Amino acid sequence: MNRGRDGCYIGSAEASECKTLCGIVAGISEEEIAPILLEGLRRVEYRGYDSAGVATVSEGKLEIRKEVGRIDDLESKYRASGMKGRTGISHTRWATHGRVTQANAHPHASCEDLVAVVHNGIIENYRELRERLIKEGHVFKSETDSEVIPHLIEEASRTGKDPLAATLSAVRQLRGQYAIVAMFRDHPEVITGARNDAPLVVGVGEREMFLASDVLAFISRTDRAVFLDNMEVVEVTARGYRVFDTDGVEVEKKPTQLAWELSDLSKHDYAHYTLKEIHEQSVTVERAYLQDAGKLDSFVRALRGAESVLLTASGSSYHAAMLLKDRLNRDGIVRCDAVLAGEFEDTAHFLDKGTVVVAFSQSGETADLLHAVKVARGKGAKVISVVNAAGSSLARESDEVLTLNCGPEVGVAATKSFTAQVMVGNVIADAVVGKSTVGDPAAVGRLIAETLATEEKVREIAKLFRDRPDFYFIARGHHYPLALEGALKLKELSYIHAEGMPASELKHGTLALIEKGTPVVVLAPGGEGFESTISNALELEARGAEVIGISDKEHPVFRHRVGIPPSNESISPILEVIPLQLLAYFMATERKNDPDYPRNLAKSVTVR
Ligand code: AGP
Ligand code: GLU
Repeated sequence: MNRGRDGCYIGSAEASECKTLCGIVAGISEEEIAPILLEGLRRVEYRGYDSAGVATVSEGKLEIRKEVGRIDDLESKYRASGMKGRTGISHTRWATHGRVTQANAHPHASCEDLVAVVHNGIIENYRELRERLIKEGHVFKSETDSEVIPHLIEEASRTGKDPLAATLSAVRQLRGQYAIVAMFRDHPEVITGARNDAPLVVGVGEREMFLASDVLAFISRTDRAVFLDNMEVVEVTARGYRVFDTDGVEVEKKPTQLAWELSDLSKHDYAHYTLKEIHEQSVTVERAYLQDAGKLDSFVRALRGAESVLLTASGSSYHAAMLLKDRLNRDGIVRCDAVLAGEFEDTAHFLDKGTVVVAFSQSGETADLLHAVKVARGKGAKVISVVNAAGSSLARESDEVLTLNCGPEVGVAATKSFTAQVMVGNVIADAVVGKSTVGDPAAVGRLIAETLATEEKVREIAKLFRDRPDFYFIARGHHYPLALEGALKLKELSYIHAEGMPASELKHGTLALIEKGTPVVVLAPGGEGFESTISNALELEARGAEVIGISDKEHPVFRHRVGIPPSNESISPILEVIPLQLLAYFMATERKNDPDYPRNLAKSVTVR
């Protein structure tokens, strides 16, 4: 299993974070390639970017069009879709080295326009390479780290190396995190690529081939993909691909059939992907339940054989991991803990070969999580993962993998992936304990559909509270992760400050913040903890708070209530989160935010 080197460059100020939040889409086709590339860039637009560009090669001429701003700006200013050529590369940039300017946008060309390159990631040793290349007469046009790559390739090409050999020569000199694709003026029949700690995947079409950061970029053209591993280089023509290690030794890699399809990427008649994906949950939760028996058995055996279990994830995935932790501890079979991926290293001293680390991730590319896995491996721990993107770096770094099967999640906010993670957690816990708490997954789907019917009620609440400056979410026991999730969703989509906390903690300080009209969402399904939570709600009401109850029970303290169907402790979190997702969505639309692309955020956070 290939392991990349350290994922992140911690050096100069502008490189204080490793960002590969953007996208690469490249290809060779029998059709004009530019329109295909632009369609692909739009499908990975959710990854976040500040500039975009396209390069094609045609009749011995290499042309580049690039611009700061959105893909639409590139199209409206330079009609990139009209570029000639059947070979092309394109890029959406998230600047790490060099300002957001047209000159710093990708693709970057070598001195004599022999080579054009796009790059995701950070070249750690770019300064020394740049200085050497300038001394040797190369002329740089940008401030970026990436621009050293086309000059290195051109330098090798001038010694007579073919595109593959020239690419290998350049890659051997690079240190850092990169996914790169190169195109050659005098060899329009080929493009080359390489990756280390940043995703790059081959799309295997009929008489056309692609290289991209994400399968969504070419899913409208082919559902066959080859996922490159770290320190691999690929040579692609319209007829095929060949993969090599950095020593130039060919590596056999067969295509995998993607479980995702183009229709997954349609919004259908929903206004936003986020709303579509909230509604998909009545189906996707059922699909999450259906796990491969053999893989589940391996997963459960790993947990049962562990001396200690540590769950780790970030954001919403961490909240789902907390629910599995609660279940495994409550059932008393496996003592386990949960730690945020970004804090993992500080708690790793006790890890050893008897430890099993369970990683939760939708994208499988979260840098904090990949680093945690690297630390866990270094301690000899076994790593088993629950992931949506089957070909992701996390999936390939894990000993056992269970997949969410919820299809691509385009909205930046985790919605269907979260409930799929909760369901997979229930499947794991039931299998470890040997009992079924889920029952008929189709019945769960029907309960979700029933809960989704509260949409109009939630929209009305959003209208009432859209200008409130602060929100609080409280819950007890195993509902507590839902309070955290509800606060995160609201912050992400509405940009309103929100805090999730245990109901019991309110009186230890936060109650001081409660004023007349402060909105507090109280997660209080019937059953264990209901009365205590109601007592906390009454304390809030006594201080002027407006209590919004999420419960299957009525109570006078609820100024507003969103009713959810009664269920058990395993299913309740899946139902409770739906009004919270809808609240965040409608608060966003009421505040004229774009719920699919919230400011400052990206879907796959490969930042450490
Ligand atoms: C959740 O809505 C956010 N998009 C974010 O917190 C996300 O859950 C987190 O970045 C983890 O992403 P992952 O599941 O792809 O690892
Ligand atoms: N480090 C390169 C730059 O700043 C690439 C950043 C990215 O991944 O978009 O241009």
